[in-house]
Amino acid sequence: MSAIDLRDSFLRTALCMRLGVDLPIVQAPMAGGWTTPALVAAVSNAGGLGMLAAARLSLDQLREQIDAVRRLSARPFGVNFLLAPPDAMPSDVAGMQRALDAGRSRLGLAPGATSLQLPPSPMNAQFDLVCQAGVPVVSFAMGDPGPWVDRAKASGAFVMAMATSVADALRLQAAGVDAIVAQGSEAGGHRSTLDLPSGVEAPLVGSLALVPQMVDALQVPVVAAGGIMDSRGVLAALVLGAQAAQLGSRFLLATESGSFAAYRRRLIEATETDTVITRALTGRPARAFHNEAIRAVDATAAPILGWPYQALAADDIYAESVRQNDIEWAPLFEGQGLRMARECSSAAEIMASLEAGLREQLKRLVGSPSVRSLTTLTKPTGPALKEQLGFPELSAVARKKKSFVAMNAVSSGLKVSWRLWVSMTSASRRVSNASCNWRCWS
Ligand SMILES: Cc1cc2nc3c(=O)[nH]c(=O)nc-3n(C[C@H](O)[C@H](O)[C@H](O)COP(=O)(O)O)c2cc1C
Repeated sequence: MSAIDLRDSFLRTALCMRLGVDLPIVQAPMAGGWTTPALVAAVSNAGGLGMLAAARLSLDQLREQIDAVRRLSARPFGVNFLLAPPDAMPSDVAGMQRALDAGRSRLGLAPGATSLQLPPSPMNAQFDLVCQAGVPVVSFAMGDPGPWVDRAKASGAFVMAMATSVADALRLQAAGVDAIVAQGSEAGGHRSTLDLPSGVEAPLVGSLALVPQMVDALQVPVVAAGGIMDSRGVLAALVLGAQAAQLGSRFLLATESGSFAAYRRRLIEATETDTVITRALTGRPARAFHNEAIRAVDATAAPILGWPYQALAADDIYAESVRQNDIEWAPLFEGQGLRMARECSSAAEIMASLEAGLREQLKRLVGSPSVRSLTTLTKPTGPALKEQLGFPELSAVARKKKSFVAMNAVSSGLKVSWRLWVSMTSASRRVSNASCNWRCWS
């Protein structure tokens, strides 16, 4: 197997093959108008997996977005749903509204309403639409997709779901999902924890610890998410055993994303310490920029309204902030890898730079002497090996070499076989070293 084949087979993971994409890169679905059809199509056209977010869209809007992606791309893409059920209806919203009125007076809005009505959810109809339209990938977050999985699969979709702990991931696997997104604590947006009764904190496990533990515990492939902004993060995710990386914040800075100008400027100037995990914006824990909206809610004695009532109470403020290009009262979800992206560029350029960075780093690794010896000693022997060289296959190669040397020593004896033993043992050790190296970055 040549060095180039080795690099390509490393990047084109088994999950990539199942999804029908060229690169192990998923553009995270981001509700709020950010993951536009143009962004999704551009990522898919560049060999990754683009994802639409259904949350906060009407049925007609989702239909238009799916049609638009299909007009722009013939490649696989996905649609994502948020499953968190509403918390109990708050009995008193007046106290919270008075705190939020500070934002309203800044933006020139009338004081907030003190009674809230949750609009009917379009999710059932949206889900039917996605199944009928044959969307290739369906993904879920913030809940157990159990009841939805079979229907999604019956439509031919590949099903993914996001978890923040191994226990939740095992539940998702038992529900029948095909791949699990490991959401590290660095991630922007809502924590995708399955059950979050009020007063219970969402687990905050960093990607470096979470991804390998999920990989070890699960039979289904893992996709790493959280703080991944460039090719180093994608490669690290693969090294940890993930079969792809899901990037959100990085794609907020794509020119095709729907993020507004002041949001982008803030992202470009932000640092790794500028975000907090808070319930103040929507009633569920989410990582976002620490702005005036969060400070005002934290400062009031009024209890935070549950999910999604807190977001509903502030809906007029959030919409007006975006309209006025004001970052202080908008919910600006964002991960921790902020310094790693300092400019806007097209999604195709982001994808090209991720791919170039991955190939460059793999070239350096494959070019190292121990890995070169591996490439001359091993040949692909079957589909699995061809797909992705793994440690067991390489150990078998090393074992075969060792037993060959041992047989030779018995039959030939003396000096010749001793020399052979020495040379083959060192060859075998090189293979083992190479296996270890390989394992370290596969
Ligand atoms: C602005 C924003 C909105 C998000 N909305 C969603 C969503 O609708 N559905 C979802 O599954 N994940 C959502 N996420 C979380 C992403 O799936 C992913 O976990 C996260 O972006 C990874 O961290 P990163 O932003 O550091 O790349 C959102 C993230 C951000 C930043």
